[in-house]
Amino acid sequence: MPSVSRLSRRDFLIATSAALAPNFAFGNDSSGSVASTTSALSSTAPDVEIELIAKRDNVRILEGASTPVWRYIGNLIKGPQNTLSQFGDSYLGPTMRFVKGQRIRIHLRNELPQQTIAHWHGLHVPMAADGHPMSVIDPGQSYIYDFEMLNRASMNFYHPHPHEETATQVYRGLAGLIIVEDDEERALGLPSGEYEIPLVIQDRAFNAANQLVYGGGMHRSMFGFYGDQILVNGKPNYRLEVASRAYRLRLLNASNARIYKLGWDDGEPITVIGVDGGLLNKPETRPYLMLAPSERVDLWVDFSSRPVGSKLIMRNMSFSGLIPEMAMGMMQDDGLSVSENFPLFTVVVTRKETESLKLPQLLSNVKRFRIEDAVNPTNPVPIAIAMQHMSFTLNGREYSHDDILPRERIPVDTVQLIDIFHDHGGMGMHGGMMGGGMGMMSMAHPIHLHGQSFQIISRTFEGNTDSYATVRDGFIDVGLKDTVIVSPGERIRIVKPFNNFKGRFMYHCHNLEHEDMGMMREFLVE
Ligand code: C2O
Ligand code: CU
Ligand code: CU
Repeated sequence: MPSVSRLSRRDFLIATSAALAPNFAFGNDSSGSVASTTSALSSTAPDVEIELIAKRDNVRILEGASTPVWRYIGNLIKGPQNTLSQFGDSYLGPTMRFVKGQRIRIHLRNELPQQTIAHWHGLHVPMAADGHPMSVIDPGQSYIYDFEMLNRASMNFYHPHPHEETATQVYRGLAGLIIVEDDEERALGLPSGEYEIPLVIQDRAFNAANQLVYGGGMHRSMFGFYGDQILVNGKPNYRLEVASRAYRLRLLNASNARIYKLGWDDGEPITVIGVDGGLLNKPETRPYLMLAPSERVDLWVDFSSRPVGSKLIMRNMSFSGLIPEMAMGMMQDDGLSVSENFPLFTVVVTRKETESLKLPQLLSNVKRFRIEDAVNPTNPVPIAIAMQHMSFTLNGREYSHDDILPRERIPVDTVQLIDIFHDHGGMGMHGGMMGGGMGMMSMAHPIHLHGQSFQIISRTFEGNTDSYATVRDGFIDVGLKDTVIVSPGERIRIVKPFNNFKGRFMYHCHNLEHEDMGMMREFLVE
């Protein structure tokens, strides 16, 4: 753990900076300055109405002193009682459970000492309800989101999206889950209730006073924040007690930058039933899984052959090639494990129970896109990853509001072929030092597109095959995705529909430090 004395000038103690921030009135008075920025409230009454408050708080995370955090608190105004559920006593926001077809209204109230806006990562909603960085609200203000749940059953992720402050706001604790249900999924009778367990994985760093430390200085700003403490559902050394039966474990990587290679310690293969955008058509089995920030995996885990008292550990397994050697060196000097083998959480079988659940061999029936389904099969929309002036860019530009390139204009209600690749840049050499390809600074970027889910058509690789062999079996490229890991040397083709809504929709790296640095652009759907 980096001790306080080793913090560089660019590090800061989260708690201290919050305490120094200007003071705002924090009462429960909602009559204050309320700015409703949503363009048009729907005339039909919502089925579900929620008040979501972003505020400062103190939460006990480690032994001893509590930790100052920023968090979401929810109140159900209208709708089914199970819509909101608290994540134990952690800082994570309430889990929102919605049903496809519901009309939803969320009142976000900003009680933080800073501008914010919440984004419903994975949901297909109009621009005015997407948490666009331009929709940020000041302290004391509210924002009303009004949308219909168009998504199929899936597990999604809500978090702040103010430009240049997303990483620090998520780091301080602002994050939560959105679970969508639909009839198709219900009919399968998958494990539910206490047998359906969300697991949110994050890494953090703390000082001796249990305050969050956003350390890492130089390597953080280049490669993203890495912490030395793994939290699952907001807790260290997470232990899950289960019965000897089938479970559904739903994992989200809500870390700022860390990519995990998930594997059971006894070598048991992992059975995947779903990814970002919901259930796969049929289960997939893998020796391990790669999970980048904002990616989700839905696992079927059968503990029925395990005796009471047995333990199973989900580990981060070692891998290479996703982070530059140089960055790994800098992080190791700070005492950070980057891609080594270490435990993430432990499952303990504590009781005997029998059920007769069978893993369905047919989970869903999503039509598989082909390149010919796109309007531009021979002329893909590019997302070129490069490094310029010591920062990563997309399509050669840093983010700025409303700076739309001709190739970023997309006709509404079209299906587009998109090509995501490392641009070797103008260094002359293939993958020169600054090139995004195989150069010294080349690294994996989890590229996320707002709006409707996409499908991965192909993943091609050219580069160091030894490193690649440590990760390549961990990608699930079937199913509906909203974030895809683009490793050094990879070129990924996706097909994505842009239906229903005109407006500007973000695409960006979900390494949050990269996103804040400007590795973000937007498509103008028109
Ligand atoms: Cu998870 Cu643009 O966001
Ligand atoms: Cu998103
Ligand atoms: Cu990136």
